[in-house]
Amino acid sequence: MPATVVVGTQWGDEGKGKFTDLVAQDASMVVRYQGGHNAGHTLVVDGETFALQLIPSGILAEHVTPVIGNGVVVDPGVLIEEMDSLESRGVSTKNLRISGNSHLIFPYHQELDALYESNLGDEKIGTTKRGIGPAYADKALRIGLRVQDLLDRDGFTQKLEATMKYINSVLTQVFDHAPMDPTEIAKTYLDDYAPRIIPHIADTINLIHEELTAKKRILLEGAQATFLDLDYGTYPFVTSSNPVAGGACTGSGVGPLDIDRIIGITKAYTTRVGAGPFTAELFDDVGEHLVDVGHEYGTNTGRRRRVGWLDLVMLSYATRVNSLTELAITKLDVLDNLDVIKICVAYEFESQRYDWLPHHQSVQNQAVPIYEEFPGWKCDLSEVKNRSELPEEAENYLNFIENSLNISVDLVGVGPGRHQYFSRQQ
Ligand code: GDP
Ligand code: IMO
Ligand code: MG
Repeated sequence: MPATVVVGTQWGDEGKGKFTDLVAQDASMVVRYQGGHNAGHTLVVDGETFALQLIPSGILAEHVTPVIGNGVVVDPGVLIEEMDSLESRGVSTKNLRISGNSHLIFPYHQELDALYESNLGDEKIGTTKRGIGPAYADKALRIGLRVQDLLDRDGFTQKLEATMKYINSVLTQVFDHAPMDPTEIAKTYLDDYAPRIIPHIADTINLIHEELTAKKRILLEGAQATFLDLDYGTYPFVTSSNPVAGGACTGSGVGPLDIDRIIGITKAYTTRVGAGPFTAELFDDVGEHLVDVGHEYGTNTGRRRRVGWLDLVMLSYATRVNSLTELAITKLDVLDNLDVIKICVAYEFESQRYDWLPHHQSVQNQAVPIYEEFPGWKCDLSEVKNRSELPEEAENYLNFIENSLNISVDLVGVGPGRHQYFSRQQ
C-alpha cells in the first residue's frame, strides 16, 4: 500500500496532529518529514492533552512505528525531554526511529536565531527562536552535523571544532557576541545525549521501503504549512524547510509515485503566528471572539495567534502546489456562535481582481480581501457524529468550499478530542 501525506494548507496550527493521530489508526508507520521543535502538534485523547514537538503524532497508537525522517532538524536535548515526558505518562517511545541523516541543532543555532531576529529590529520574522533557520542554513552550507555523527566520537569532535571555528567568527565579528566552547558542547552531546539517542538511530529510508514493499500504509506528517514553506510561502516570513507535499518526498525518501493520498489540513478560518502578510486578517470583535473560542495561543511558544476569515485564494494555491486529494476541515465548531461568517474569495489591488495568489509580493502585501457572506448556524456542533446531524448553514459553508476549490472535504473536526470529528463520505 502506498503512502498518505498530511500537510498544512495555511500558516500552521491547523490541527495536523489531531488528524495524523486519527489517520494513523490505519497506518503502520508515521514519519515526520521536516521542521523541528518549532512545531507543536496537539492530541487530546480521553481528556488528556499531548503537545508534541518532534515525535510523530502516531506515537499514541501502539501498532505504529514513529519515525523522524532525514528532513527534520533535531535538538537531541529537547527530543530526550519529550521522550521522558511521554514515558512518564505511560506512552512507550521504545520503537522511535531517527534518521541518521537528520541534522542536529546546537546551542549556537539557537543563539544565532535570536541574534538574526534582533538584528532585523521591526522587520523581524517572529521565529520560534529554536535555531531552526540557522540549522538548515548549516545543512545547505554543508557544515552541519548529522545525527549519525553521534556514532563516531572523534569524527564528531573534529567536525564540531571545524564548524565552530566559522560559527565563532560570526558570533564574535558580526554580532560582538562571546565565542561558544566546542569542548563543552561536544561533552554534552557525546556524554549526555548520544547514549540516549544512539539506540534509536536507523536507516529510516530502508525501513520505510520495507514497509511499502510489505504493502503497509505509511503516513508522512508535515509540520508548519504551505504558506510557511521556504519556496511557496510568504517569504521571508516563512520557516526554513519545505512543508509542502513535495517536502514529504525529500524529507523521508518516499518517491512521488508511492503517494496516493494527500490530505490538506485546513482550519475553518485562518490563523498565523509571527509577522508577515495576512490579507483576510481580522482586527475587530469577531477576531477577538475567534481567539477566545478557538484558544488561539501557540501550542509551542504561547504567543497569541493572529486570526482572520478562511481564504480561498490561499487554499486554491495550496490545493495545487500540494496536489491535494482532499481537504480536512478543523475547528468548524469555533464558528458556532457567529451571526455571519465570511469567506475571502478573491483579492483586489488597484481595481484589479485576483482569484489566484498574486505573484508579486508587493501586490500580495497590499491586496484587500473580497468576501462572500454566509449565515451562521448558531448551534453547538461539538457532538455532531455524522453529516446528517449537520445544520443546513454549516453544510452550505462546507459545500461552498468544496465547490469553489473543486476538491472533496471529507473529515471535519468539531472539537479537540480524538473522536470529535465526522466524515462526510459515510
Ligand atoms: P497543528 O500544529 O497543526 O498540529 O495544530 P496545533 O495542535 O498547534 O493547534 C490546533 C489546536 O486546535 C489544538 O489545540 C487542537 O487541540 C485544537 N483542535 C484541533 N482540531 C480541533 C477542532 O476540530 N475543534 C476545536 N475546537 N479544536 C481543535
Ligand atoms: P506547526 O507544525 C505555526 C512560524 C513562526 C515564524 C516562522 C518562522 O505547529 O503548525 P521558525 O522558528 O520556523 O524559523 O519560524 O514560522 N512557525 C509556525 N507557526 N505553527 C508552526 O508549526 C510553526 N513553526 C514555525 O511563528 O512566523
Ligand atoms: Mg502547532
